[in-house]
Amino acid sequence: MPKPIRKAVMPVAGLGTRVLPGAKTVAKELLNVVDRPIIAYAVAEARAAGIEHIVMVTGRGKQALEDYFDHHIELEAQLAAKGKTELLEEILAGLPKAGEMSFVRQMRPLGLGHAVWCARDLIGDEPFAVILPDMLMAAKTPALAQAVAAYDQVGGNIIVVEPVAEDDTHRYGVVALEGGRDHYPGRGVPTRMSAMVEKPPRGTAPSNLIVSGRYILQPEIFDILAAHETGAGGEIQLTDAMVRLMGRQDFHALEYDGVTYDCGDKIGLLRANVAFALRHPDLGPDARAAIEALLRD
Ligand code: G1P
Repeated sequence: MPKPIRKAVMPVAGLGTRVLPGAKTVAKELLNVVDRPIIAYAVAEARAAGIEHIVMVTGRGKQALEDYFDHHIELEAQLAAKGKTELLEEILAGLPKAGEMSFVRQMRPLGLGHAVWCARDLIGDEPFAVILPDMLMAAKTPALAQAVAAYDQVGGNIIVVEPVAEDDTHRYGVVALEGGRDHYPGRGVPTRMSAMVEKPPRGTAPSNLIVSGRYILQPEIFDILAAHETGAGGEIQLTDAMVRLMGRQDFHALEYDGVTYDCGDKIGLLRANVAFALRHPDLGPDARAAIEALLRD
């Protein structure tokens, strides 16, 4: 059995330019999907995968994220006094236990690779997960838990991937699999990777499988990230560091079973709200009626 995955890094320093003006003074990770912020889904997913410690890599103007994961004494007292026990319990259940969440600042926006590198001292010398909270994933078995199960099978590094339309590959990291499409066993089977490229120009992507925002990485990635080499967009790219590590360690892609909503994008955020509202245990029926009425107008 490979070393267990106990810690997860969540890069949350981005400015959210694709969801402005909403994200001007509210961290984009605190924008709501139905009844809770995007970040709450990411934290629940991490916990469901057995993660014990979360490192959030924040930046200027993101203080409210820390507050969200702390007690709100007045609110809790009010809910208790009014007998709103269920709501109070739900709010308390969303909090980390003391010491199980750390915050570190990415002091300059130098790229995703740099953000992950900022967590190096808090992760130390053990394999860890990375969750990009914007990529909200709906799945029966939470996406990171699927990645951890694959890791328990094959060890090394795991990249969660998913197919997108050829037209969209230039917006993401794209992977190539050993044996190409013909030998691809399909969803749910960790498959050895042969290459990876960040934001390939249109028409040059090695496949239509994109890096979708869940990773399991070995700590040696930090040594490579420490070189601060820049890549696509002049940023320190996590993808480039992973490509370099691929020369020395195993990388498997895992096409996960679920649906991704890119909440860093206005339409993606809207789709997430509609989809999660429709399947919400309490709000679902009313949400459906409201949406159907809107469509009739
Ligand atoms: C980052 C990664 C990219 C990945 C994407 C998923 O890009 O660099 O490989 O496909 O997240 O959302 P960004 O969205 O930060 O440009």
